[in-house]
Amino acid sequence: MNVKPTSSDRERVEQAVRNCYSTWGERYYDEYYKSDAAYPPVHTDIVRTLLQNAGARTLLDAGCGPASMLRDLVDLGLNLYGFDLTPEMITEARRVLSVHGIASDRIWTGSVLERSSFLGAPDGQKDYDAGICFGVLPHVRDGSDATVIGNFMTVVRPGGLVAIEARNELFSLFTLNRYSSGLFKNRLIDSDGLLAAAGDERDALERALDDLDKRFRMDLPPVRKGYAEEPGYDEVLSRTHNPFEMRALAESLGLVDVRVLFYHFHALPPMFESAVPKLFRRASIAMEDPEDWRGHFLASAFILVGRVQ
Ligand SMILES: C[S@@+](CC[C@H](N)C(=O)[O-])C[C@H]1O[C@@H](n2cnc3c(N)ncnc32)[C@H](O)[C@@H]1O
Repeated sequence: MNVKPTSSDRERVEQAVRNCYSTWGERYYDEYYKSDAAYPPVHTDIVRTLLQNAGARTLLDAGCGPASMLRDLVDLGLNLYGFDLTPEMITEARRVLSVHGIASDRIWTGSVLERSSFLGAPDGQKDYDAGICFGVLPHVRDGSDATVIGNFMTVVRPGGLVAIEARNELFSLFTLNRYSSGLFKNRLIDSDGLLAAAGDERDALERALDDLDKRFRMDLPPVRKGYAEEPGYDEVLSRTHNPFEMRALAESLGLVDVRVLFYHFHALPPMFESAVPKLFRRASIAMEDPEDWRGHFLASAFILVGRVQ
């Protein structure tokens, strides 16, 4: 059920997210975009192609973090703008972009849930050719996705491009771990309805539902903790999204030419990566094809792409 969150819910979530990311400002890009340990940032190339095909000249990155994506797109010669919830991310983004001659006021503090944040450009820029949003949707509460898409639609010009990334809920069917159990029990099986209808089979059904978890590695994946006292990624709200539902939502809000592009493919369920790490990485990268239907299950992320009418 999509219940619109209250402002105090929102403030609580945003404060936890700010805490989580407060220690990542200087480290984030090195760890997630440049490290050999991390999967290569294949999404940057997808965005680059989308921007080039759209002929974009101005770009707003909502939830830009330490300008991780923006710094890698500098060579396109776009007018770049961005905002983020976490002050430490903004400090780092300004520092990095200043090296490329981008004024610090092109990057500001704000929330994707606040329309005024999308209007924060110092020069009053508000008819962007393109708006992107990566790594942010997991951190907004259920019921707020439409607000984020709607906010983009007020600042991206008619015909302009919107590209919003989300974690793929359906990937949980492939992981065979705790996430799979969650998908089965919370999204696929109507546990309450079945229990109510079970009659004298209720005890047997309860045992069957317990038994289901034995099919999955419930100890995986490990919970990601913070570096110090702050909460880690899995300790703050970090939702996954359903690509079918997101596509329908975008269309219902009036975006056109809506597509779902998948990335970060997994050639095997991730629990097997440690057995064949080099092959796993090589084969997964080779599978990257944003339009491959297998992405619905093998890719851990997707980009919801559409145009404003
Ligand atoms: C996983 S990082 C991604 C950063 C960058 N977009 C990238 O792709 O590398 C998530 C970022 O979203 C920001 N964020 C989370 N909730 C937000 C919100 N409601 N409004 C704006 N930014 C938000 C965090 O501060 C953090 O910098």
